[in-house]
Parts: sequence; structure tokens; C-alpha cells
Amino acid sequence: MENVIADIDIVEENKRTENCEVRITKEGNRLAAKKLYIESYGCQMNFSDSEIVTSILQKEGFDTTASFEQADVILLNTCSIREKAEQTVRNRLTQFNALKSKKPEVTIGVLGCMAERLKAKLLEEEKIVDLVVGPDAYRDLPALVKQAEDGEKGVNTFLSREETYADISPVRLNSNGVTAFISIMRGCDNMCSFCVVPFTRGRERSRDPQSIVAEAQDLFNRGYREVTLLGQNVDSYKWSAVENNKARLEKNEVNDYINFAHLLKMVAKVSPSLRVRFSTSHPKDITDEVLHTIAKYDNICNYIHLPAQSGNSRVLELMNRTYDREWYINRVDAIRRIIGDECGISSDMITGFCSETEEEHQDTLSLMNYVKYDFSYMFFYSERPGTLAAKNYPDDIDLPTKKRRLQEIISKQQGHSLERNKKDIGKTFKVLVEGVSKRSNDHLQGRNSANKVIVFAKGELKKGDYVDVKVTDCTAATLFGEQVA
Ligand code: SAH
Ligand code: SF4
Ligand code: F3S
Repeated sequence: MENVIADIDIVEENKRTENCEVRITKEGNRLAAKKLYIESYGCQMNFSDSEIVTSILQKEGFDTTASFEQADVILLNTCSIREKAEQTVRNRLTQFNALKSKKPEVTIGVLGCMAERLKAKLLEEEKIVDLVVGPDAYRDLPALVKQAEDGEKGVNTFLSREETYADISPVRLNSNGVTAFISIMRGCDNMCSFCVVPFTRGRERSRDPQSIVAEAQDLFNRGYREVTLLGQNVDSYKWSAVENNKARLEKNEVNDYINFAHLLKMVAKVSPSLRVRFSTSHPKDITDEVLHTIAKYDNICNYIHLPAQSGNSRVLELMNRTYDREWYINRVDAIRRIIGDECGISSDMITGFCSETEEEHQDTLSLMNYVKYDFSYMFFYSERPGTLAAKNYPDDIDLPTKKRRLQEIISKQQGHSLERNKKDIGKTFKVLVEGVSKRSNDHLQGRNSANKVIVFAKGELKKGDYVDVKVTDCTAATLFGEQVA
């Protein structure tokens, strides 16, 4: 079950993995205000939630700080997706121990999925923690912080069927001023047997589309040029304007509702200069209507994150993904037919799931050969307490086998990423400039519609500009090019 050390290797391999990044708040500019330091782990939804939390606490007079030593309140927005994700947070809490002994008045809070999974138990396990607040209870944070300051530990892990924080305007943290995330729904109603998210995030609920469009419009007015619509399963987005229709909508008794394809159109119409991305698509729910909508609007990006998890139908059934290999291949074929071969496709894959045989692992490799993903996030199975798999199937693939299979799919993916990138050499793409390249100050970087990072000489360009770039060279991770006059 424990795979802490091994998983760290994988993070090294999977440099762009969404689940290992850590970001901290930027320095605020007001003096004398109480200082908030917030650190986020896990998926983009968590990063997006930290922006909501910051907004809630700013209204209470808090300012943000980039240095936890300066903070009055330290919050860790945590992830439970794999054992290693929780271990990272526990290690971080140990580091804060030293600070707490020097400065006992500092309030330390755990937010997010680990807070939800462990609830008050976390206060027992991690003595320095003063606050435990789940993802649907952030409006309660000001009261809970006050309570903690008065010496009483605060816990709220109530999961809501309604909360979407639709009215809260997120404070953009660590922003490049060009790209931003917008949460369009919360929770997950799928029960993938390996996954802890339905337990930590609660039932799925969609956010009022008007508030989503208003947020996109506001970002555009402030100079942003790309929004990514976020949800665990964006294709099941559903909204009825008619009050009290919620229950009927859940039972599929209402035909007149806004689905994800409609929402994409609404956001795309904010401006042709606003790029629209989205994540994550679920293979069981992605419709041809969504694919036609992507094809129709130039500013909806040609990139789909379509996690397969496995290429074998028996394993997919054990995973309770509710599609099989043929269904998945049918969806990939539909993407290539309706949007075209240049549409970027990426995946998440899990190796060594309960009882996976060598032949079944080969099926994952052969699915990869079929699709030729541009990119994948790859993991080996980590048993999570309380999930269907933990209850029903022994975690019986030994760690060396899990790691060897993972290494095989990582190598395969690197080959495919390079192959897909090489096909782009000689082509010209419209790129949105996101900032200076990480490698050199004389170069800028941005992405094309298919989500590929392109590096090119700076010229007279600045962040937020669109530019045509002809690709001249590549690695497996990056395209290099030159501006086309
Ligand atoms: N909603 C998304 C996934 C969110 S979790 C979807 O359905 O695709 C991100 C990824 O973490 C998953 O796609 C899966 O590949 C991986 N993951 C989730 N639980 C895991 C576990 N117990 N062990 C290993 N990887 C896991
Ligand atoms: Fe987890 Fe499955 Fe929901 Fe994704 S769709 S969050 S993998 S339960
Ligand atoms: Fe992690 Fe929770 Fe996201 S478990 S991946 S932070 S929904």
C-alpha cells in the first residue's frame, strides 16, 4: 500500500504532473492587515478553490504573504488522491512545527480533500493543526479562524449539495495575467473504484452558467485571453434555469437544460479573442455535440484531456469506469473525425491496478499505440481507504511490478510525445503569448490550440498577444519556432 518513495520518482519523471505542483501566494501590498499564507496541492480545482478562500478572507481584512514566517494564518489546501500526496502534506506540517513553537499564536489550518477525508481525526494525528475545513465549508472560514484565535480548534467538513461559490469573485493567485481557471461544477457522481474524490468532494453540482459567463467576461475585460473551465467530469454539466427543477434534472425528467456544449458556446461568445479550454472530459459522457461545438468555434481549443486509466476492458470494469476499450476507441475516432488529427489528446493512466495481468498491461500499451497521445499523466495504483477497490479487491500487484509497468508506459509516452511533436515541424500555429520562456529571457513561450508549449524569439511581442509561429524544432516536451511576419 505504501508507495511514498517510489511515487516521488514518478513525480520526477512526470515533470508536468498536475498533482505535484506547489504554489504559494504572492506578496500583498497593504500594511498592518493580518497576513494569510496559503499553499495548494493536488488538482487545478484545489488551486481554484484557494483563490476562493483568499477572496473570502480578504473580505475579512486579510492580506496575503509569500512568506509563511510572516503569516498569522497558514492554510494548506490538500489532496488525498494518492498516499504520497497526503504524505507530502504531513511532511510540510512537520516543518511548520518549528515555527509554531517559536510563534504559538499562528493559526495553522488544513483545507481541501485531506481535511474532508480525515475530519477531526486530523487534529488528533497532527497536533499543530488548529483548523480542519472541507471543500464545501470555506464560507465558514472567517468564523473558524476567529474561533481558533480564541484558542478553540475549529472543524467544518459538512459537504453540501448546493454550494458552488458562484457569487465569489476569486482572487487570482500567481497569475500570469493571461490565463485563468473557472470552476464550472463541483463534486463527482461517478464511483471509479480506485478514487477518493467522490468521498472528499461530495455530490456533483453545476454552477449557474450566467455567473460563469460573467466571470469569463470580467477576466477578458481585465486583459485575460484564455479561460479553462474546470470540473471532474465537465461533460455531465447540467443546469436548468427553472427553480426547483434540480431533482427532476437529476432523474433526467427535464429536457430543456443547458448542457456542456451549450455552456462552451456561451463562453466562446464572450469574445473571439478569448480562448476556451476545459478539463476533465469523461470518455463515457463526451458527446458528438461537444465535439462539433469545438470544431465550430475557432476560439474553443482543439485539445481534450480524455483519461483512459487502462486499455483493458476487464480492468476498466473493475475500475467501474463504465466504458470499455471499444467505447473509448470509438470516442477517439470521433475526435479525429470531427475535429481532426491536430486535436491534442492526453490521458491519465494507472498501472498495477488490483489483479491486472501482464497481458492486460500490454492492452494499455497497445491502446497508447492506437491513440498516440500527445501527453499523459501516469501513476501506479495507490490504494485509498474507503474506496470500492479498497473494500472489494486486494491490492495484489507488488510494488516492483507496478513501477516496472509504469516505467514502460512512461517510456512509450515519451516516444509518442516526440513523434507527435515532430509531425508539427514545418507547420504554423496561432500562439497565445503567456510570458518569458523558462529557459531564456530572450525568448517567450505560449501554447497553440492543441495545448503544446512553443518557445520563440521575443521580438516586439508581449504577454497576451496572439502570434503566428512556424515550428522549426522540438523535444518530447516543447516545440521551438519562429514568428511568421
Ligand atoms: N476526474 C478525473 C480524474 C481526477 S483524479 C477523471 O475521471 O479522469 C486524477 C487522476 O489521478 C485520475 O485520472 C487517475 O489516473 C489518478 N488516480 C486517481 N486515484 C488514484 C489512485 N488511487 N491511485 C493512482 N492513481 C489515481
Ligand atoms: Fe474520480 Fe472517477 Fe470522479 Fe474522476 S470521474 S473524480 S476518477 S470518481
Ligand atoms: Fe486531489 Fe482532491 Fe483534486 S483528492 S486531485 S485535490 S479533488
